[in-house]
Amino acid sequence: MNEKKITRRSFLKGTLLTVGAAIASPVLSQVAPLTLRDPSQNTKSSEFMQRSVSRVNYGPSYGIAKLNANENPYGPSPEALNAMNKAIQKGSYYVTAVTKLKEMIAEKNNVTPDHILIGSGSSAPLQWLATKVTRKGHILGPDLFWDTTSIMGSKNNQFTLERLPKSSDLSINLDDMEKFVTPNTSLIQITNPNNPTGLTISPTKLKEFCKKLSKKVLVLVDEAYNELTPQPEKNTMVPLVRKGFDVVVARTFSKIYGLAGMRVGYIIAKPELIEKIASFGLGDYSLNQAGVAGAIASYNDEVFLKFSKQKIIEAREIIEEAVKVNGLQSLSSTTNFVFVNLGDLNAESFRKEMAKENVLVRGIYRDYSHWSRVSTGKIEDVIQYANALPRVLEKIA
Ligand SMILES: Cc1ncc(COP(=O)(O)O)c(C=O)c1O
Repeated sequence: MNEKKITRRSFLKGTLLTVGAAIASPVLSQVAPLTLRDPSQNTKSSEFMQRSVSRVNYGPSYGIAKLNANENPYGPSPEALNAMNKAIQKGSYYVTAVTKLKEMIAEKNNVTPDHILIGSGSSAPLQWLATKVTRKGHILGPDLFWDTTSIMGSKNNQFTLERLPKSSDLSINLDDMEKFVTPNTSLIQITNPNNPTGLTISPTKLKEFCKKLSKKVLVLVDEAYNELTPQPEKNTMVPLVRKGFDVVVARTFSKIYGLAGMRVGYIIAKPELIEKIASFGLGDYSLNQAGVAGAIASYNDEVFLKFSKQKIIEAREIIEEAVKVNGLQSLSSTTNFVFVNLGDLNAESFRKEMAKENVLVRGIYRDYSHWSRVSTGKIEDVIQYANALPRVLEKIA
């Protein structure tokens, strides 16, 4: 297999050129190959680009493309950084600004603050919820979804996680889900868009499903990646919470907000349910000054959110194009990651060889041994992925 070099210019031109076209173009073939994260090459004047260069030392080491945890490397936003710097000076005091953050989230979602439970990442309230429900019955989830908190939360309880059978296209089959509900099901858990597949369920179908099933059993919709979908408002199940259905929605500041390391996330549900779930965790005491200040500062920062979303889409298109050019297929993603079908190649061997190229991607999920998840990092990171791809595929073939 011939090595196909992708240059910064070929992808940053605005219109996405195919890798093949980039190689064929006499102009582009003269463009020097990308030098990874060399600050002197950065000619963009936007605040975010400047800042992302000046922060080089705080991210992954120079030359490492960290594409394994669905983070937003353009965060924290400038506003969040300022707010967090100020907040650490209040580090000797317990955090009191959680009330303000709750009010902001409530206002945006058109609910009252007692519908909101904030924790150290959405993992915290999700784990409290899993702990609560698995005292009485099992959690029903798809075969493949973000199952970390349902597994952790159900440990030491009588019931745990039951999964649907595999679906051939890796989508979540809601009809199947309905069939698998038993009197022992105490929670249905859906990740939408799903991780690691990146697939989004039709909002109309999901709404109908939630309305019907929540009359029998509590339904959790984990919307960690909702803001990245083309129409977040259409895809969210929050309106059902507002109408009083037994639906819980989870959201996080770890993804588009670029605050994964600051650990702030929340769930939205009926006040009486929030009260019950809250009793399984430490609530506000699990939070810290800087994280809450960063979340408040970035929650309504439309400039930063728009910038991040654009960059994520740009990076995703580069990944998708590289995958296609190398004869592979990926699932259609509306998130900051892409699930790539490696055909008959093993995803763990792929991960190891990619790591030797300083490209970090996820290893195997459960028994999906030929699927590899790659996150959208910075543009230079995904170009590094695209350039390493043919070499690695050749090695492990
Ligand atoms: C779907 C989904 N939900 C929740 C989380 C947990 O995120 P956090 O605890 O950082 O909010 C993740 C993390 O990757 C995720 O993918």
